[in-house]
Amino acid sequence: MSQLANIRIGIIGTGGIAHAHARAYKQIPGVEIVGVADIVPGKAEEFLALELLHEARAFQSHRDLLTLDLDGVSICTPNISHHQLTVDALRANKHVLLEKPMSVTLEEAIEMTEAAHDSSGMLTIGFQPRYDPNMTLVRDIVQSGKLGKVYYVETGGGRRRGMPGGTFIRKDLAGAGAMADIGCYSLDMALHALGYPRPLTVSAYTSNHFGTNPLYHPEAARFEVEDFGAAMIRFEGDLVLQFKISWAMHMDTLGSTMFLGTDAGLKINPFGTGNWSGVWDGRVGDITMYHDVMGLQTHTPIPVISHDKDLFLEKVRDFVEAIREGRPAPIPGDQILIQQAIIDGIIRSSEQKREIELKLPDTVFAARV
Ligand SMILES: NC(=O)c1ccc[n+]([C@@H]2O[C@H](COP(=O)([O-])OP(=O)(O)OC[C@H]3O[C@@H](n4cnc5c(N)ncnc54)[C@H](O)[C@@H]3O)[C@@H](O)[C@H]2O)c1
Repeated sequence: MSQLANIRIGIIGTGGIAHAHARAYKQIPGVEIVGVADIVPGKAEEFLALELLHEARAFQSHRDLLTLDLDGVSICTPNISHHQLTVDALRANKHVLLEKPMSVTLEEAIEMTEAAHDSSGMLTIGFQPRYDPNMTLVRDIVQSGKLGKVYYVETGGGRRRGMPGGTFIRKDLAGAGAMADIGCYSLDMALHALGYPRPLTVSAYTSNHFGTNPLYHPEAARFEVEDFGAAMIRFEGDLVLQFKISWAMHMDTLGSTMFLGTDAGLKINPFGTGNWSGVWDGRVGDITMYHDVMGLQTHTPIPVISHDKDLFLEKVRDFVEAIREGRPAPIPGDQILIQQAIIDGIIRSSEQKREIELKLPDTVFAARV
């Protein structure tokens, strides 16, 4: 333990998820949380007291925190601030572990990746489901060619009664609702398996019948984002993705994630059941391969890899190890901005009620990992 290089960490934003970051960092040998920042006066100090981080310093401005000698920062603030805080941290040459979703708009995501290219720091996005080994299994099956040409993918799924409140439902702080909040996980799951192909167009619908109804949400008067959405996304290579997400609905599920290929199909269900389950912010539950020749259908369950990994700890540990080993970002901004382009397109398409063309710079694909 004593031979490990000490990694000095700062945390920006000390609300709900920052505690999960602090708890993870405290479990990793050779990591020291040296400072935290929160714009709400006194909140950073309260956080340090709660987390028993008596040696760490508290700040109200992230800029003051960034003057410390830090290796990396976790950014744990509402979505709307991800862009500025990430750019500032990268310009200060710190490595960044940014909470999902990456940003609100595509323009912001592009600037963030440019800042990462110009920095000695890396930008990694915190999608903990990637650390479920079954996600790698799904990707390996899709990439192996066993499905033949994949032409149609469906992903999303939905919570039945899983609407958050607070900063998550304010357009000025969250930027978007369910599509970005939990949709980013589903998109990452499908797009990662497909190798992040280039999206061309999106046509989307969103609504918020539940969030704005006091029968269903205690903060209905302040509910400004979507609680449901569905989108059709076309990709290069004649591939289509149907994507649907809900925070609330009168239905048990919006279905499984499925990959339809010319030789076989793959169906994946998420782990867990209940009001807040049913989306890819957790673990893989089961995987089945379907194959049908001349009416002789086979359903082959693929044994899922059983594990007791704490996926959140794994994502924070991978960030620390990447810093220590001088590795590139584990889940690079260059890759995630492709799904940010889709989320940005979904919001614009649903506002304009028409199909939107997605214009990503060619450099995105030249630079992506
Ligand atoms: N990976 C996960 O499982 C997971 C779970 C929950 C939330 N999140 C993400 O984490 C982010 C934060 O969510 P949360 O639930 O902790 O929200 P929260 O509202 O509980 O906390 C956010 C904190 O950031 C502070 N803040 C806002 N702007 C700031 C700024 N410019 N500088 C410093 N502090 C600032 C706020 O005062 C607040 O204390 C969101 O983007 C959310 O999507 C991820």
